[in-house]
Amino acid sequence: MKAVILAGGKGTRLRPLTIYTPKPIVPVVNRPFLEYQIEVLRRAGVDDIVISLSYQPDKIEHFWGDGSGLGVRLSYITEASPLGTGGAYRFAADGCETTTVVVNGDILTDIDLSAVIRTHKERKAIATLTLTKVEDTSRYGLVETNVDGAILRFLEKPKPEEAAAIGVNTVNAGIYILEPEVLSLAPKGENRSFETQIMPEIIERGMPFFGHVIESTYWSDIGTPATYLAANLDLLNGNIRGFDLPKNTGSDVATAAVVDGLSRIAEDCNIKPGAEIRCSVLGRGVLVEEKAIVENSVIWPHTRIAAGAVIRDSVVGRSCHIGRKAIVTNGAILGDKTQLTDYTQV
Ligand code: GDD
Ligand code: MG
Repeated sequence: MKAVILAGGKGTRLRPLTIYTPKPIVPVVNRPFLEYQIEVLRRAGVDDIVISLSYQPDKIEHFWGDGSGLGVRLSYITEASPLGTGGAYRFAADGCETTTVVVNGDILTDIDLSAVIRTHKERKAIATLTLTKVEDTSRYGLVETNVDGAILRFLEKPKPEEAAAIGVNTVNAGIYILEPEVLSLAPKGENRSFETQIMPEIIERGMPFFGHVIESTYWSDIGTPATYLAANLDLLNGNIRGFDLPKNTGSDVATAAVVDGLSRIAEDCNIKPGAEIRCSVLGRGVLVEEKAIVENSVIWPHTRIAAGAVIRDSVVGRSCHIGRKAIVTNGAILGDKTQLTDYTQV
């Protein structure tokens, strides 16, 4: 079976992290993000995967090549200019005659996709959307269904008063099972949005269109700094099951340093005596000097944290230098190559 991963957005909301690193390869517990999606697809027997790009395609292709290292066949397609979510699907799946799974490229989930595909087939649906329940629907596509799961309404980023009037909290989880008929709703080469154009049109035309609510499954859109940090911590804390996390090997950790059992440290790190790493991720080649503390944080490769510095609940980009006794807390997001002078407080 085929899949299209929509990964052509600029990742604007994840800036500054996405200035040098495109969103699909932003590291989540030291693995480029899309590998989690590829694993979920592969487990459901979906092994022919097209990554739909429009931004920094070379950097992404370079990572996985033909996908053989991941047990799938990967190909890449790049739009000359962004075609929107629906236009990108048409461009990537043009001529495809089989059921296709379309995935928003910034969703972290451990969903069992085979169950969704099975229900889609049983219902003889043209399109099935996975749905999830959230408290604040305003950042998502609000989806109303009837008791049988048939989709009655799709409203992208509703205003609070619109959402209140509809009174449901199920939203589009960004994973679709689509039959080839849907391709015809996205004219070739034209910009189309699934959310504001194609989904409403499927409803208008009365095509068999269903929602599949995913429950007891982890689901998060990692498209903002806060959700990105939370996704890393959720993996460390075991709130997302079913993914093997990389082992802590090949680093130099002083016997008088503390690295708790939740933290994940890539190779070539150097943790000096008295330093403490708690529930955090360190990328390759991070140096943590004497008595520095890193807690509930993500540190990208080759950053240096000087003696006595404290990093809490924050993300520090690649090749930064955090000065002695500097304090970085409270959801701070430092872009690559940030230099913080000794004693700075962020
Ligand atoms: N190839 C390509 N071309 N990909 C695109 C384009 C494009 O023109 N525009 C967006 N994408 C990709 C993004 O990279 C992202 O992976 C995905 O499509 C969705 O775009 P976002 O910009 O992340 O949308 P969103 O998070 O505001 O809303 C979407 O996701 C929500 C779930 O997280 C919508 O689908 C909502 O309905 C949904 O609830
Ligand atoms: Mg998103």
